[in-house]
Formats: sequence, structure tokens, C-alpha cells
Amino acid sequence: MSYWEDSCRRAAELRNQERVRILALETSCDETAAAVIENGRKILSDVVFSQIDLHELYGGVVPEIASRAHMEACDRVVDQALREAGMTLPEVDALAVTKGPGLVGALLTGVNCMKGLAFAAGKPLIGVNHIEGHVSANYLTSPELEPPFLCLVVSGGHSHLVEVRDYGEYLLLGQTADDAAGEAFDKAARALGLPYPGGPRIDNLAEEGNPEAFTLPSPKTEGRYDYSFSGLKTAFINLVHGMEQRGEPLPKADLAASFRRAVCRELVEKAGLLIREHPEKARRGMALAGGVSANRELRRMAQQMCDRLGVKLYMPQIRLCTDNGAMIGSAAYYELMKGRISGLELNAEPALRLVRE
Ligand code: KG4
Ligand code: ZN
Repeated sequence: MSYWEDSCRRAAELRNQERVRILALETSCDETAAAVIENGRKILSDVVFSQIDLHELYGGVVPEIASRAHMEACDRVVDQALREAGMTLPEVDALAVTKGPGLVGALLTGVNCMKGLAFAAGKPLIGVNHIEGHVSANYLTSPELEPPFLCLVVSGGHSHLVEVRDYGEYLLLGQTADDAAGEAFDKAARALGLPYPGGPRIDNLAEEGNPEAFTLPSPKTEGRYDYSFSGLKTAFINLVHGMEQRGEPLPKADLAASFRRAVCRELVEKAGLLIREHPEKARRGMALAGGVSANRELRRMAQQMCDRLGVKLYMPQIRLCTDNGAMIGSAAYYELMKGRISGLELNAEPALRLVRE
């Protein structure tokens, strides 16, 4: 029997199996991460090896360095995830890997690693959409959460408002016309001379500052639920450069707090507008997802908004907001339950979108 035939047969059996444990690998950007997840909900292990030290020197992720570092770390991280779960490769039921979106070289490293393991061990392989992974981080944190619900996905590459209609079924309701929220945070941080990745640094600094110290423009967008952060980012950078040129000391904490407030206000206002205009879509609640959902101000403001509108808010625990293997293992389980597995022709899809076209 060929690998593919055997894989299809095993995947069909797994759909009726009580306990399904998936080994998942994530290498789309600058974290090499692996995890073992049971039934899409329970974390048996979760190992994240961050490359931040390697890229900090350059002020951002260097794709070639990322691919090489993933290659060196993959085996180790996978071994550690198995060990921490108290399992061996033959004992896991299926393997999963991020297929996109992300850096092509980084993705290919993970895809090839898992293809090799899946073939060698004769296990079904599931290629996972990274953004779907971020959404699924909520299933690991909130056992009661089930679709349909609304989700604000905010990461380094995406700012999406989506309706999660079912597991693996999404309707895109709003998106950014230019920069993603995380990207805007990173660029604003750079203007303040903070090291990469800037989002968490701005967040920390902002806790000490006055969010009303500076007024930044409200973005204009065409779509009612769309975002735009490039104008806000440029206004901020101009503000900082102006102060520098005038030789004024930079009140960094106030600047960080004002910028964070402006970005979060925009994120939360559009989400609130969507809920008010389509309350039926938020009946089961609203979730946050992606690296920026670790932002403290965003979490506070989203909670206040949801409390006001009487909607339940779901948020991944902080460590599951940024890239990790656990979220990939969760998304993979629901793909597997729908019979969506990949063959050995699985390839990296750097520009993969959340909504299937
Ligand atoms: O989801 P993620 O780990 O990777 C992508 O899929 O892009 O998101 C990374 C992004 C970076 O832009 C980072 O600066 C931002 O999330 N980020 C934050 C915070 N933690 C991470 N932005 C604002 N506040 C934070 N606490
Ligand atoms: Zn991510």
C-alpha cells in the first residue's frame, strides 16, 4: 500500500478514535516550536525555541538566518516535545506542520522535516494555516469555546476581523488596507530606538506612560470593518523625528502609551461596531488571536467593550498569543476530523490566506 493510501486509511480510523494525539511543528517566522496536543484541546507538551537573539542585531527577522536556525533546531525541538509528552514518535497518531503564510525558506524547513517524519513513521500529515493556528489557540485556553464566534486576529502580518463559522470555516469581514497592527507596533518601537520585536517593548514602556499625552489621527478606511495603520504609524514617526530635530528629550513612555492607545482604540472600535451591527454573529462571543493579542491595553479595552455590549470575550493565555506549536496541533485536529490531510506533495505556501478561495 502506498504512503498516501495508508495515510487516508489511518486518518479515517482516527476520526472515530477516542484519543488522538498530534505532534505539531511551527517554523513560519522566527520561532521553532513543537508540541503534542490531545484532541485539539489538551497540551501534553509545548516547546518554543525563539530566535530573537539571532535577529535582534539586525532590527528584524533575516529570512536566511531564520531558515538556517530552524534547520538546526527542528530535530531538537521535536525530540523535546515528544520527551516532555512522555511519548515516542510511533505513539503519536498524526503529524502537523505550518504550511503558510510566512517566510518561504522558514516554512520549507518545517514542511520538509515533517514530511520526512510522516513518511518514515507512516503517519498522516496535516498542513496547517498559521492564522488558523492563532485562532485555535483559543480552543486550548477555553475548553467551552466552540464556533460560531467572531475573532479579531492581530499579528505581525495580519489584522483581520473574521467570523469563525465552524472549525476550519472562516468568513473575512474586515482586514487591514496596509500595515498589520504588529508591524505598526514594531515600526513605532524602532522610531523610539527600542530593539526588535518592538510590540512587547512598547507595551511594557506604555504601562508607565500617559496615553492621553499625544493626540494621533484616527485612521480612515473604505470598508466599515477594515483597518489602516500606516497613517497612524507615519504620524507617530513624524512626531518623534520632529522632537528629535528640535533637540527635545523624548518622553518615551508617554509616546509609547499614546501610540498603543491609538492602535488599540482603532482595533476595539471596529470590532465593537461589527458586534453592534451584527449581534447575531457574536452570540457565542468574540475572541482575540495573534501576537498583538498579548497586548495588555488591547486585552483591557476589548474586555471593557465586550462587557458593555454583553458579549463573552475569549483570549488565549499570553504565552499562546505569539507563535507556538500547540496552536498548530489544535487546528490540525479539527482539519483531521474533517478528513483534510496532506500528501507528500505538501509545499510551503508563503502567501496562504485564511479564507479558502
Ligand atoms: O503572531 P506573531 O507571533 O507572529 C506572526 O504571525 O506575525 O506576532 C508577532 C507580532 C510582532 O509584530 C510583535 O511585535 C507583536 O506581535 N506583539 C505585540 C505584543 N507581543 C507581540 N504587540 C503589541 N503588544 C504586545 N504585548
Ligand atoms: Zn504568528
